[in-house]
Amino acid sequence: MSIRIDELPMPHVPGGDDFAEYAALSNDVETHTLGTDLLAMGQHEMLSEYVSTAVRTRRHLVARDGGTMVGRAMVTTRPLTPEAGAHLMVDVLPTHRRRGIGAALLEAAEALATRAGAPVLKVAVAHSVRDDAERVEPPTGFGDLPADDPGVRFLLAHGYALEQVTRISLLDAERLRDQAASPEVPDDYRLLAWAGPTPPEWMDQLAALRTRMSTDAPSAGMVVVPDPWDAGRVREHDQRIASSGRTMLTTVAEHVPSGVLAGFTEVVVSDGDAVAVQEDTLVLTDHRGRRLGMLLKKANAQQLVAAFPDVEAVVTWNAEENRPMLDVNEQLGFREIGREGGWQKRL
Ligand SMILES: CC(C)(COP(=O)(O)OP(=O)(O)OC[C@H]1O[C@@H](n2cnc3c(N)ncnc32)[C@H](O)[C@@H]1OP(=O)(O)O)[C@@H](O)C(=O)NCCC(=O)NCCS
Repeated sequence: MSIRIDELPMPHVPGGDDFAEYAALSNDVETHTLGTDLLAMGQHEMLSEYVSTAVRTRRHLVARDGGTMVGRAMVTTRPLTPEAGAHLMVDVLPTHRRRGIGAALLEAAEALATRAGAPVLKVAVAHSVRDDAERVEPPTGFGDLPADDPGVRFLLAHGYALEQVTRISLLDAERLRDQAASPEVPDDYRLLAWAGPTPPEWMDQLAALRTRMSTDAPSAGMVVVPDPWDAGRVREHDQRIASSGRTMLTTVAEHVPSGVLAGFTEVVVSDGDAVAVQEDTLVLTDHRGRRLGMLLKKANAQQLVAAFPDVEAVVTWNAEENRPMLDVNEQLGFREIGREGGWQKRL
């Protein structure tokens, strides 16, 4: 076996055999880990997530065995906030594992990250859910992973520490439609919803909420630095979602006396896809305890069902220590389909 590792430039639009093979490899590995292809991404969606933007640089490496792509690595660095470190991802096809391909890709990925000045290397990767194996726990004690999962073994062998476990869960169509009753909104608040780009009047406040998301969401032992958003970044993000054939559905809660947006929630749907993806949900600290989180999610579920009657499920990611958010999602009827590990190696 002779393995070659090369950098793969991202195309401007999806197409071309290399990107198609890269996308298939990424989807196949995740499907193999989780035992379901529910999270598989279409090429348009994947490309819009895999390109570099003003705030993040993404580089891609591929390992080829002869003419076949058998592994890949992705390195994400943050040119404006390098202290946030780099995110790495390594995937090797199940047919080509235990031959050192993963280690070679990781070494090349770590070299790109350290050359970009990252002080810490992070990994967020899906792992299998099985209860019959020995467990690995993060220091917080919230959640665990099977010790014999290949990714768990690989990351431990390469000096990464498990800091956080995230639950991946799914709300199916029947439960989604149960959210149809009108939520009762507390005095002084009103809910507003929109599909697609952020209305100009809410741009600045939405940027402020997104900035808070980077520091307010539980992060366990992961190194976190504030990730500032402004109206320009919201606009770029909105455009990238729309141009990749996706629709973002947003519901916000306005505190009417002050005109402040107290919270928001977002779901993204790809054209023709039966699974919608829950993105950020946040209620500002001063406005918590009024069930706004639940109200926002119910109202956005109603918007989703009305706008996309063919959507069959919503999938979401929640930190195991995020009890308030898990409470909301469990009450809504979400059930676990997988786990994600938040791993870290400080340099
Ligand atoms: C993790 C992954 C990238 C490893 O790829 P690989 O090509 O098999 O990696 P290597 O051959 O270089 O190293 C495998 C090492 O992982 C560990 N490992 C993986 N599976 C194992 C298993 N079933 N039993 C024991 N150790 C195992 C061992 O340390 C092994 O080294 P060894 O073969 O010398 O004992 C691959 O399993 C994969 O794609 N998993 C899904 C994605 C993922 O979890 N990525 C994590 C990194 S972001």
